[in-house]
Amino acid sequence: DKMATIIQKGTLVTASETLRADLKIDNGKISMISDQIKEENEDIIIDATNKYVFPGLIDPHTHLGIEGTLDDFESGTKAAASGGVTTVINFTDPNNSQTFLEDLAEWREKAKSSIIDYGFHSIINKCNSAVLEEIYKLPDEGVTSIKLFMAYKENMVNDEELYLLMKAAKQAGVVTNIHAENGRVIDQLIDEALNNNNTDPINHACTRPPGLEAEAVARALRIAEVTEAPTYIVHISSEEAMEEFIRAKERGVQAFGETCPQYLVLNENYLKKDAKEAVKYICSPPLRTLKDQKILWNNINSEMISTIGSDHASHPYLNGKENGIDNFTKAPNGLPGIESTLLLLYHYGVYEGRITLPKLVEITSRNPASIFGLHPRKGCLKVGSDGDVVIFDPSKSTVISKETQKQGTEYNIYEGMELQGSIDYVLSRGEIIVKENEVVGTSGRGKYLFRNKFNEFSDEGGQ
Ligand code: URP
Ligand code: ZN
Ligand code: ZN
Ligand code: ZN
Repeated sequence: DKMATIIQKGTLVTASETLRADLKIDNGKISMISDQIKEENEDIIIDATNKYVFPGLIDPHTHLGIEGTLDDFESGTKAAASGGVTTVINFTDPNNSQTFLEDLAEWREKAKSSIIDYGFHSIINKCNSAVLEEIYKLPDEGVTSIKLFMAYKENMVNDEELYLLMKAAKQAGVVTNIHAENGRVIDQLIDEALNNNNTDPINHACTRPPGLEAEAVARALRIAEVTEAPTYIVHISSEEAMEEFIRAKERGVQAFGETCPQYLVLNENYLKKDAKEAVKYICSPPLRTLKDQKILWNNINSEMISTIGSDHASHPYLNGKENGIDNFTKAPNGLPGIESTLLLLYHYGVYEGRITLPKLVEITSRNPASIFGLHPRKGCLKVGSDGDVVIFDPSKSTVISKETQKQGTEYNIYEGMELQGSIDYVLSRGEIIVKENEVVGTSGRGKYLFRNKFNEFSDEGGQ
């Protein structure tokens, strides 16, 4: 695909600075960054005067292609692209009749309809010698992270298994992602709630208190300390969990923290609305308080939170979320939001003064690339990196609505929010895939990403 693109007069934003420069992409790779680049019959010329040029976002936490949800890899990556995401790292979903390598092969097949580049984290939900062997083989398949659950009956691993799996992951050069909630105590609280007829959606939050998130974070990171395994805590939602995370980091544990836009922007009051509305907001960990939001924003600035993942799960309302109206345990867990991360973080973060522009790029592009073995190919604006860019107009605004969204759900959890900023273009490897809210990239153009082992090509201090 011989093709050249020039983006002129924009303000480039990297994790370390903003600079006025032109940017050229040749055959999919950034080939030049300079004050002024002369036009030479390029195929695409974009005037980015008064616009920001961001590296495409890497969403390190998506659940596309889950049975019963409304986004497969085609619709889900179209939605992602419309929001400035040019790479997703999706979770597999293990199936007890297959090995984890077979499971991965099946997911790679499913993902072939993607319009953006993609990788996988392998969810591992059991531990035996065959499973430990498989973990060593994952990097040869391009997978350099696993995910373990400390909650949910069907996927939970116990402490011995956590220890053995993390030890193997460490030796294999694989990062361990952890869903940290104490599932065994939560299951007791759920039984008690149901026995007392406390079935409204708010009971979802009451049965998953922040202390049980914090306890799991502390336990996971104590085991990480013993195994020396690099450990990534997904979707941190609460002050209590943050406190345990910080304590571990201060001891020198190699831990990375992720939060999600929903924990930064929404709160538990959404679960107190009329049950028909409240069920849309059921996710785990649950939405917390305004104080927790504030703590999470502060910890983005203190570098304790490294990344933002959408945790996109597009459960339908009909025959999905609505099943929780009379009993919160019947609603599927997880929220749709893959296309709103950049707009939400720009508005509530940059525009309202909570974070800087480089910080936005650091948490949405630079850090996920480094942690998950994609740097410097993805997540930075650098000569040699893939030409994945977002051209963002800070002078326009965008209203979020189910009427205009690209994701498959019948509802939008951010319905009606008016946000400063608008996405003009999204390019993947130099090709325009989104133009003024229209997705023009074609299904199947996305490539599978073979990710490097943890720390294999790290270059600290780069952009
Ligand atoms: O509620 C959530 N987050 N559902 C998706 C699965 C997970 O826990 O990551
Ligand atoms: Zn989770
Ligand atoms: Zn998730
Ligand atoms: Zn670098």
